[in-house]
Amino acid sequence: MLVAILVILGLLPGIPLGGIIPVPLVLQNMGVMLAGGLLGGSKYGTAAVGLFLLLVFLGLPLLSGGRGGATVFLGPSGGYLIAWLFVPFLIGRLKRLFQVRAQHSWWHELLIVGVAGVIFVDVVGALWLAWQSSIPLSTALVSNLVFIPGDLLKAILAVVITRRIRNLMQLEVEY
Ligand code: BTN
Repeated sequence: MLVAILVILGLLPGIPLGGIIPVPLVLQNMGVMLAGGLLGGSKYGTAAVGLFLLLVFLGLPLLSGGRGGATVFLGPSGGYLIAWLFVPFLIGRLKRLFQVRAQHSWWHELLIVGVAGVIFVDVVGALWLAWQSSIPLSTALVSNLVFIPGDLLKAILAVVITRRIRNLMQLEVEY
């Protein structure tokens, strides 16, 4: 179901930010944060994101705007996509480390999703972008700031949705 959610989020076209950074603003990274919150990191969360990325790699046009294929992993978005694979694992590990349980307040979860799903992804994405596009790392990091407000909003939404679904379905997520 999480793979289907990632696919559906990709039906919404990305917003190109041409002059600022050659990577679009997308909604799919919220699906990756949801995978970490709803499925946990150890097995299923990583498996869902991994399966989605494998389908993209094999050429299915599942990224926003109908893109796919091995070449997108070598392009400016490559670092973000690889970082997505580790987000559920990181969310799971951080929740375990700080013993964040379902009954804790939502901002505990937001902090963890913010670190794993926003800061980690944007920093890895910027590192790859700097190397791939031969631009200074500082330039890549600064241009990534354009994503931060939207990514934080997506992190808040992901945490709210995760908590609602977990409560509604009485899910016991194993992190
Ligand atoms: C693509 O479809 O090519 C883009 C994948 C990566 C997009 C990254 S994820 C973090 C940051 N936030 C966004 O909205 N876009 C970038």
